[in-house]
Amino acid sequence: MNTSYGAPGGPAPRARPVVVMTGASTGIGQAAARAMLAARGDARPARLIIGARDPAAVQIALAAAARDAGVRCDVCALDLASLASIAAFVDQVGTLLGDRQIDAVVGNAGIQTTERVEWSADGHELTFAVNALANAALVWGLAPRLAPCARVIVTASGTHDPNDRGARRFGFRGGRYTSARALAAGQVEPGTSAVQAGRDRYATSKLCVLLLVREWARRRQGDAFVPLAYDPGLVPGTGLARDYPPLLKWAWHHVMPTVARLMPGASTKERSGDTLAWMATAPDFTPESGTYLQFDRTPAPAWEAIDNRDWASDLWHTCAALCAPALPAATTAS
Ligand SMILES: NC(=O)c1ccc[n+]([C@@H]2O[C@H](COP(=O)([O-])OP(=O)(O)OC[C@H]3O[C@@H](n4cnc5c(N)ncnc54)[C@H](OP(=O)(O)O)[C@@H]3O)[C@@H](O)[C@H]2O)c1
Repeated sequence: MNTSYGAPGGPAPRARPVVVMTGASTGIGQAAARAMLAARGDARPARLIIGARDPAAVQIALAAAARDAGVRCDVCALDLASLASIAAFVDQVGTLLGDRQIDAVVGNAGIQTTERVEWSADGHELTFAVNALANAALVWGLAPRLAPCARVIVTASGTHDPNDRGARRFGFRGGRYTSARALAAGQVEPGTSAVQAGRDRYATSKLCVLLLVREWARRRQGDAFVPLAYDPGLVPGTGLARDYPPLLKWAWHHVMPTVARLMPGASTKERSGDTLAWMATAPDFTPESGTYLQFDRTPAPAWEAIDNRDWASDLWHTCAALCAPALPAATTAS
């Protein structure tokens, strides 16, 4: 069943969709925000509400693009490592929009920690908290404000897949799902080095994104919103390497962008940002619920485990329980 904007029988696409977005301060997300503001490529001009840790910096970075396009872009405080901050952001979106509904949510923010285990404000392992749990919380919080067939796009990664040769080259060995409680507690498989554990946490958090998107698709088919996942490809030069050791960070910014041009599966901020903007706003994009696309707009290769129902159910119920104190709506979502 096709449930998207612009689909036959679906709601008519709005000229200026309302898009709520995370991860727009740098990298792929900032490129996507610029594409939506300027209606670059085949994106439509969107009215953006961005959640960011440093709203002033993002406002400054995007001000000229918004002014030139004559569209409104609000940037509100949001720390995805805090469920209370997510709840406050959801309230602020409501205040800004009044009765107007949201046409797309883009959950693009993500982090990669290296050797150190870090913790969210709620005491959960940080990679799991920001990359997985926060997206569940945000979508559950915003769900009552979504337009019929709104698109909900969460950025995943090929690293979730143990068969992804490109990711293996960088030391990723795929998602290692145990249980959501164990992931939130930062538990590591015995015998895993600290560096490998960091890569595993990232790959597993992206597997969690895909499990959530598929679970939403199963539960919400034909109803409310269209959950989608996105793989931007390997995009060197973004802020994702901010915690890497100095030499690796230098290579990520100064060597990899050139080398990556020759690598299959690699992209640029602009190309991957344009595709993300297109997924959020293009009227002629009519995806099935649960679709997982990559930067060249074709289906992204995925590990069959993204449809593991036991893992999805465990993740869903645990996320709902963890979100409940800050976002009571999450309890009803489950
Ligand atoms: N680059 C790649 O090769 C690649 C490949 C596959 C998937 N991805 C995914 O693509 C997405 C964008 O990554 P990128 O490469 O463009 O990296 P990036 O430049 O580091 O962008 C990450 C974004 O997430 C935001 N963020 C991180 N922690 C946050 C928090 N606690 N609260 C609110 N926002 C937070 C950052 O905001 P701040 O400025 O506040 O830190 C930034 O805007 C991520 O989900 C990443 O996992 C990237």
